Amino acid sequence: MFLLRESRGLAILAVLSGLIAGVGNSGLLALINMQITNVGNSTKTLVWSYVGLCILTLASRVVSELILTRLSLGTMFDLRMKLSKQILAAPLRHLEELRAHRLLATLTQDIPEVVNALIMIPMFCMYLTIIIACLAYLAWLSWIVFLGVVAFIIVAVASYQVSVVQAKRYQKLSREEWDSLFKHLRALTDGTKELKLHSGRRQAFLSQVLHSSMSALRRFLVLANNIYAVAAGWAHLLLFILIGLVIFAIPSMRAVDARILTGYTIIIIYMMAPMEFIIANLPVLSRAGVAIGKIDELGFSLESSSKEAIIAPSAKAEITWSSLKLVGIVHTYHVKQDNSSFTLGPIDLTFVPGERVFLVGGNGSGKTTLGKLITGLYVPEAGEVQFNGEPVTDANRDLYRQNFTAVFSDYFLFESLLGLYLPELDAQARRYLEQLQLDHKVNINEGHLSTLDLSQGQRKRLAMLTAYLENRNIYLFDEWASDQDPMFKEIFYYQILPELKARGKTVIVISHDDRYYHVADRIFKLENGKLAFQKDLAIAAAAPTDIQA
Ligand SMILES: Nc1ncnc2c1ncn2[C@@H]1O[C@H](COP(=O)(O)OP(=O)(O)OP(=O)(O)O)[C@@H](O)[C@H]1O
Ligand SMILES: [Mg+2]
Repeated sequence: MFLLRESRGLAILAVLSGLIAGVGNSGLLALINMQITNVGNSTKTLVWSYVGLCILTLASRVVSELILTRLSLGTMFDLRMKLSKQILAAPLRHLEELRAHRLLATLTQDIPEVVNALIMIPMFCMYLTIIIACLAYLAWLSWIVFLGVVAFIIVAVASYQVSVVQAKRYQKLSREEWDSLFKHLRALTDGTKELKLHSGRRQAFLSQVLHSSMSALRRFLVLANNIYAVAAGWAHLLLFILIGLVIFAIPSMRAVDARILTGYTIIIIYMMAPMEFIIANLPVLSRAGVAIGKIDELGFSLESSSKEAIIAPSAKAEITWSSLKLVGIVHTYHVKQDNSSFTLGPIDLTFVPGERVFLVGGNGSGKTTLGKLITGLYVPEAGEVQFNGEPVTDANRDLYRQNFTAVFSDYFLFESLLGLYLPELDAQARRYLEQLQLDHKVNINEGHLSTLDLSQGQRKRLAMLTAYLENRNIYLFDEWASDQDPMFKEIFYYQILPELKARGKTVIVISHDDRYYHVADRIFKLENGKLAFQKDLAIAAAAPTDIQA
């Protein structure tokens, strides 16, 4: 498993101490048996060996448990951290295709499953050692009986495995069902308003969507558990049959030394607890197997999709830039369900510092997609982006993205101004809050915003606050003004945009507000993924335009 490489040393240590505990345990048993069968003949060595083994066994058990706690919690931490990093390193388009609910299901569901099993492994090793040592002792007591016991165990394990294969299949199915249930649970929390407002929809969602998903999950889990329960019962029965054979059948077949018989019975009874533990916990191991498959699938898919070099946190984009050129860039969305696709491009465009560019066009014409291509969030499948004459490649795309601040329509607000190490950050932020008319609503303390519980328009202004503070070269606003009141729209188009221009920023505005198109230096219109026309208002100084979005 590629995610567990780091903690291999610790894992081996835990397993080793588990093994020592197992050997010690079996040694103790052998000593007890010797003492019972040689009544009255206790020697000094026997007593001291007993004391020594007691201490060794206890100590190795404690050590094993301590390492285990560290290992399991450490692994949970490492796995989550590693997957989170991989998620952030993966291309945006790949993540969109994977879907958020599947990422969440793995982060919350699969990782604890693996850790649960991991905790078991040293115990498994300890108990397996005990069983092996017991078997060795049995062999020492009597070869023939030992061979019989081994043959019996092989048959027992084989018959147990046959039923368990089916149970594993159901465990896999239940895990697949979890993915869809996660999606429905998101619909439940995100779609509460829509479900509350329409009783028919609510009823249908509960009975058709949630109910069917949950009952499928329940069915698979019940089936898997039932099979395991029956298999465990069967394994227990076999164990008792074994003891029965040893204590009833063997003495009747041929004269067996009573001492051997007692030894055998004690050992087999002693083996019962470890065997029960193993039988009871095999489902946990098998569930972890399914979870590991899921994590690996996701991990590999994330790992193989990310070829981009990640820049160091200290790396900064250059303060000056001369040109940003899109040369024949193309992006295609494939929709698997109905085999349709949407292609944007090929598009050729050039941006220079300090201009206001409007990107207009009807719904679904490809504006947001173009925005993602310009900002380096999507990788063009054909053509290239050239920044300062240099092509943007996997090696420098992360650095290239640091030139941009973007507020997309599905923007996300963080509770604090993370990663902005500016002198007097709070004072600057307060000044901008005032300009955005949010100073009476939101306070800022050591980069932490006092609240995010605001109206939609106000939240978008908070997104603008971050954009101001980032002070990047190029700004992209995806329909930023669409939910601002008329007064603030004026402020956006007549104050904020000119101010950004005055600071030498290039601003790309995706907008449907045709009333304000005249403030643009240039306008591009997209139609069905193609550049329909562009208009240079700065040069033409054209009168109010007739462009319709
Ligand atoms: N995640 C996606 N998966 C598949 N196809 C998509 C996806 N997002 C967008 N599309 C397709 O790409 C086209 C362009 O979408 P885009 O979001 O770029 O349009 P837009 O111009 O920003 O529209 P709007 O004005 O509604 O925001 C859409 O018509 C849609 O068919
Ligand atoms: Mg859009």
